[in-house]
Amino acid sequence: MTVKVDEFADRLFKSALGTAEILSIHIGDRMGWYRALAAQGPATPGELVARAGGGERYAREWLEQQAIAGILTVGDDGRFVLGEGEAEVLTDESSLAYLAPMARLFTAAAVQMPALLEAYRTGGGVSWADFGTDMRESQADMNRPWFEHALPGVLAGLPELDAVLRRPGARIADIGCGGGWSTIALARAYPQAHVEGIDIDAPSIELATRNAAEAGLGDRVAFRHGDAAGLGAEQYDAIFAFECVHDMPRPVDTLAAARRALAPGGVVVVMDEAVADSFAPPGDEIEQLMYGFSLLVCLPDGMAHRPSAGTGTVMRPDTLRRYAREAGFRDLEILPVEDFGFWRFYRLIP
Ligand SMILES: C[S@@+](CC[C@H](N)C(=O)[O-])C[C@H]1O[C@@H](n2cnc3c(N)ncnc32)[C@H](O)[C@@H]1O
Repeated sequence: MTVKVDEFADRLFKSALGTAEILSIHIGDRMGWYRALAAQGPATPGELVARAGGGERYAREWLEQQAIAGILTVGDDGRFVLGEGEAEVLTDESSLAYLAPMARLFTAAAVQMPALLEAYRTGGGVSWADFGTDMRESQADMNRPWFEHALPGVLAGLPELDAVLRRPGARIADIGCGGGWSTIALARAYPQAHVEGIDIDAPSIELATRNAAEAGLGDRVAFRHGDAAGLGAEQYDAIFAFECVHDMPRPVDTLAAARRALAPGGVVVVMDEAVADSFAPPGDEIEQLMYGFSLLVCLPDGMAHRPSAGTGTVMRPDTLRRYAREAGFRDLEILPVEDFGFWRFYRLIP
C-alpha cells in the first residue's frame, strides 16, 4: 500500500468511528440516559434503567461502549460517570456548546436514506415534513442557545438596526421561524415590539407556540402557519430570515414579498451559513459540515417542491446577492457580526 492509500484508509476508519459515535450519542440522548447521568450522578446499568427506563442489557452495552469511546469514565465502584464538560455538551440545552442535537439531526437524515437515494436517482426531493420530528426539533434545539444568549447582544451592537427594532410598537416578522426560539428572543429583547413568527410547516408552528407558552411569552408573540411569500404589503419595520432562505424553493419570491412587506425605513436581515465566498476545495470544517447538511437535508428539502431554485445549504454571498437583486433589492451588505456560530448576518438594501 502506498502512504496515500494508508492515510485515506485511516481517514475512512476514523469516519466510521465518528458515525458510530454520533449514532450512539443519539441513543443516549433519546433514551434520556445522558440526562439521567447528568442529573443523578454515576450509575450502574441497573441504576440507569431504574432512573430513565430501557432494557438493562442494552444499557450495559451502551455504557461500556461510551466508556470505551472515552465519553464516559468508570469510577472505582464500577459506576459509569458523565463528566461535567461532556454533560454540558450533551445535555445543557442553554449552552452554546450544546451539540447533542447535531447527532439527532444526522440520525434523522440517515433514517431517510431510501427516500434520499430515490431523490438522488430521480432529481426529486425529501421534504421537511418527511424528515419529521427529530429533524425539526434538532434544528430548533441546535439554534436555541444562540438566539437566547447571543442574538440580543448582536442586535444591540448594530445601532441602526437596534433603533428600528426599538421604534414604539415596532412590527417584526420572523419568517421560517421553525421552533420559534428566534421569535421568542426578539420578543424578549424588544418588549415594545409585536413579533410574529411565520412558517410553512404546521408542526413547527405548533412547536413554536408551545415553546412560547412555556417561556411565558404566549401573549407577546404570534405564530402563523403560512408561506412567507404571502406576507402582506407595508406591514413590518423589520423582517428576519434565520437560516431558512437557502431552504426555500422560491427564495426570490419570498425576498420580493419581504421587500413589499416592509414599512418605510424598514430592514430585512438574513442570517445564513458563513460559507466561503467561492468554491475552493478542499474546504474548511464549516464548509465540509455545510455540504454534509446540504447532501442529506437542505438540498433534498428544497428540491421537494416545484419549481425549485435548488440552493442547498452552501448559499454563498453572491448567490444571496443575486436573489436579493432579482427580488428588487438594490444590494446587500454583510453586517459586522463576528463569531456567531456557523452563521453570517446580511442586511438587504431596498
Ligand atoms: C432550517 S429551518 C430554520 C428554522 C429556524 N429559523 C431556526 O433557525 O431554527 C428552515 C425553516 O424554514 C421554513 N420554510 C421553508 N420555506 C418556507 C416558506 N416559503 N415560508 C415559510 N417558512 C418556510 C421551514 O419549514 C423550516 O422551519
